[in-house]
Amino acid sequence: MLVSGGGTNLQAIIDAWKAGLIPHGEVAVVISNKKDAYALERARSNGIEALTLTRKKCGGQEGFENALAAALEERHIDLIVLAGFLSILSGAFTSRYPRRILNIHPALIPSFCGEGFYGLKVHEAALEKGVKVTGATVHFVNEIPDGGEILLQKAVRVYEGDTPEKLQKRVMRQAEWKLLPRAVEMVSKQIAEE
Ligand code: GAR
Repeated sequence: MLVSGGGTNLQAIIDAWKAGLIPHGEVAVVISNKKDAYALERARSNGIEALTLTRKKCGGQEGFENALAAALEERHIDLIVLAGFLSILSGAFTSRYPRRILNIHPALIPSFCGEGFYGLKVHEAALEKGVKVTGATVHFVNEIPDGGEILLQKAVRVYEGDTPEKLQKRVMRQAEWKLLPRAVEMVSKQIAEE
């Protein structure tokens, strides 16, 4: 699991896994690109290995991705899940793991996605546009930011008076925390059966 922040999507996966809803998978390691990400605490308090790899410490994007690939290989990781990982991975990295990287995006792709659309910014853009429905998308990651094959989507209503924060919480609660564990089990099962 790759994370950058609060880790509520990570928590949703840990909860589903502990509840036996991800029988074909195991959360093996949580890796953050931010050293103070609360997601790291969530991992540790659930007995999951937690690591920090920053671009700065690794000497740039290439160094970061090499260190990341080494950490994944060392642990024989089969599936990489971007659970609130707010940095873009290069095509050189993503092409090494075709259909093995999942991402959750807090909008209905192809709306409000691509470079620059992450976290609260996505909801700000949706409110600015005045859409009445938004949602979340789980997709495979390829070299195009938010451009890989879509696996699951769920729509969420936008209400008058919504703030980006209110909308973000509703999208998380009604869509993200349900879709991501479901997608992780779907793909883990496929991998286990290959
Ligand atoms: C989530 O809303 C996730 O969909 C979004 O960041 C938030 C992370 O929250 N991801 C992106 O915007 C990726 N482009 P979390 O750390 O509590 O899971």
